[in-house]
Amino acid sequence: MAKRVVLAYSGGLDTSVAVRWMIETYGVEVITVACDVGQGGDWETIKDRARAAGAVEAVVVDCREEFARDFCGPALQANALYENRYPLVSALSRPIIVKYLVEAARMHGAEAVAHGCTGKGNDQVRFEVGIAALAPDLEILAPVREWGMTREECIHYADRFDIPLTATREKIYSIDDNLWGRAIECGEMEDPWASPPEGVWEMTKLTASEPTELVIAFEDGLPVALDGRKLPMHELIAELNVLVGSYGWGRLDMVENRRVGIKSRETYEAPAALALIMAHLDLEALTLERDLHHEKLRLEPRFAELVYDGMWFSPLKQSIDAFVAASQRYVDGEVRLRLEPGRCIVVGRRSEHSLYDYGLATYEAADSFNHADSVGFVRLWGLGIQTWAARQSARG
Ligand code: ARG
Repeated sequence: MAKRVVLAYSGGLDTSVAVRWMIETYGVEVITVACDVGQGGDWETIKDRARAAGAVEAVVVDCREEFARDFCGPALQANALYENRYPLVSALSRPIIVKYLVEAARMHGAEAVAHGCTGKGNDQVRFEVGIAALAPDLEILAPVREWGMTREECIHYADRFDIPLTATREKIYSIDDNLWGRAIECGEMEDPWASPPEGVWEMTKLTASEPTELVIAFEDGLPVALDGRKLPMHELIAELNVLVGSYGWGRLDMVENRRVGIKSRETYEAPAALALIMAHLDLEALTLERDLHHEKLRLEPRFAELVYDGMWFSPLKQSIDAFVAASQRYVDGEVRLRLEPGRCIVVGRRSEHSLYDYGLATYEAADSFNHADSVGFVRLWGLGIQTWAARQSARG
């Protein structure tokens, strides 16, 4: 059994109890690592809580900039939506947390890493497969999966060891949030027929009443400016979450297939991620050559599936990354979004690398398309089916 363990720490009930429980049960020293991926939180209080629970060292890493650049960025370039809808909020943050767990394990001479996931979710898969990819020698501990305590028992355990917590007995939702969005699970939503209670929404409360328009500028498929104001990507995402969210737009309510074979009802809010993906898809339609565009559309669901399934560091995912990166060379330009209460739509797009040719597209006098070319083209395009129709289709 390892002597020192690095634990992925959120500051919540489970991971706080896990610190003490591992000390008591395994006789190890625990170092906690908390990653700021934009979820907000009082990091000093979180550090104090880790120490109060018994951690020998409490590390906090501000990962916001890196998370936006190296995780949200590639996901946006790949228009990554799991099962066509979910922008991978939690699935994107696990690999960066894994990276910092491994780094801390090396720095503090730990032989094991631990996480606070249950046995029913995807996050355990993402942590463990991620660790296996980056540090196959490290042992992995999953205290929450092992201890079999109920929520009540955990609260009691925390009381017994004087672990200061803000958790209350009434807290019924499991929340995970970061710059890319927020996942809300459990409670009455475990009935897929029941509407999500209005109180679950935080990022998408409708407060705006006047419609507005917003221009997002992209370079190489990444957002670089809002209404002409250059912004680092993590700040741009944060601003967009507030603005788009204030129109009450960016909610998802879906049943999804978890990697472990369970169908689960999930609600999400991801105003910035969903608006950016919508805008980016639109700019690609303007700037990507047709075959490249179509092939990319075929690969995107695979990318999303790999990330969802914990394969961020896999060779297939890396190879798709290379394809996606190469495809973004001309995805520069601007997309204009219109925001109205409950609505966000694209109303305009332009690019210096646009493949839209007015002369070819217009039905007006400026038409430069050679109509006569179509005659032979369409005849040959349909020749095979015409032959088939004459010889075989008639047989019924
Ligand atoms: N179902 C989502 C996913 O697998 C959200 C998970 C949220 N995690 C959590 N610990 N509440 O990506």
